[in-house]
Amino acid sequence: MSLSRTSVVSTPVVELAASASPAEADTTSTSKPTALVAPLPTEDAASEGSSSVAVAPDANVPGTGDERPSTPPTQAELLDFVRRAAADTELVASLPLDPEGRTWARLEGPGGSEAWLIGWPPGTGTGWHDHADSVGAFLTAAGELTENALAVRLPTDGWKTLELSEGVDRHRKLSAGRGRAFGSHHVHEVLNESATEHAVSVHAYYPPLPLMRRFSRSGAVLRLEQVERPEDWQ
Ligand SMILES: [Fe+2]
Repeated sequence: MSLSRTSVVSTPVVELAASASPAEADTTSTSKPTALVAPLPTEDAASEGSSSVAVAPDANVPGTGDERPSTPPTQAELLDFVRRAAADTELVASLPLDPEGRTWARLEGPGGSEAWLIGWPPGTGTGWHDHADSVGAFLTAAGELTENALAVRLPTDGWKTLELSEGVDRHRKLSAGRGRAFGSHHVHEVLNESATEHAVSVHAYYPPLPLMRRFSRSGAVLRLEQVERPEDWQ
């Protein structure tokens, strides 16, 4: 069920929501303190204000459909989707921006994928997290984002802290028009390190994120802080 360019970018569900954040839209910007403690699924971060304009649709947006396609979207298809959506200037401009916190709108991703348009004020970020078994892609539509990632797969269960070896850190600067796809169990944090400029990005995941693990990091030590599930993002 591939989507035409038009349908892909024309169906953002823009619900001004007070409480939830999208999966990659993290938490710091939510209006509910609890959400902040337990950030959302994917990319994001810092919103402190309870007045942030959160465009957070329900997990199951009408039109998105829960049916799994017989052929799941590939990483390349997800990357193609986020690239086309990011190039839709009308769509990108439709996202409300808030200097106090991240904003987001859900999009209809290809093949039943979960997709988001996210606005990042200067200085916001997601914190370290993974995406369970989901593969994904994201691309900067405006401004510049930084991705810090780990080039290792973390154990799924049975640990609270891990000491990372040298050489596993990866660092990318993603200016407008640049993005990446990633495989399952990808671990990263995404940041807008600009002191002055907002960033906007598009993200897509398949299957829709079943959970997200959030980590804190001190030097080489990674600590599992929280496991979040979609119901936590409602
Ligand atoms: Fe992420």
